[in-house]
Amino acid sequence: MDVHASPLGLVLGALALVAALSLPAAAQQAPAAEASAAATSAAAPAAGKPVSFASGQARQGSLLYRDSCASCHGDRLNGALDAPPLSGTNFMGKWGGKPASELFTFISTNMPQDRPGALSPKEYTEIVAFVLSKNGVEGGDEDLPSDPAALAAMTLPAAQ
Ligand code: HEC
Repeated sequence: MDVHASPLGLVLGALALVAALSLPAAAQQAPAAEASAAATSAAAPAAGKPVSFASGQARQGSLLYRDSCASCHGDRLNGALDAPPLSGTNFMGKWGGKPASELFTFISTNMPQDRPGALSPKEYTEIVAFVLSKNGVEGGDEDLPSDPAALAAMTLPAAQ
């Protein structure tokens, strides 16, 4: 009995030791983790300015959309068969509040689904501008950039 009990005793002793050592450590780390989470959320709103695009980009985008996207997503961006709508509450519920770079990257790497990446960055930017114009974002004077870092600093409007 003693022969078996003593390794078990060792294991239990080791577990107790590990628990004793890690508890204070965890308690010490918690405030630091909370502080850094607070810092991150405080920084978030400053990181993204509202996305904007030039009206001319959206006009170009509407032509490109008609040629490259409408066959699946519909003339009115209402979706068809497998292809989801690119406007409305479901669409903005999914993308709203996110950096513009996420939508741009998704579209430019995955779409058109039958020939992903076929268009130029400029053309994808114009299509994104058009899609935004159909989701209540007003066109302005400044171009929507194609640069990923600049797009990452812009936030898509929250779903209404
Ligand atoms: C051959 C059909 C087809 C074409 C052409 C096509 N798509 Fe798609 N698209 C799909 C399908 C199917 C899905 C859903 C599966 C997925 O998300 O990959 C989709 C998904 C999407 C999504 C994600 C929608 C969501 O709810 O998040 C976006 C955005 C999108 N497409 C944009 C475009 C744009 C912009 C073009 C034109 C450049 C385009 N698509 C061309 C079939 C197509």
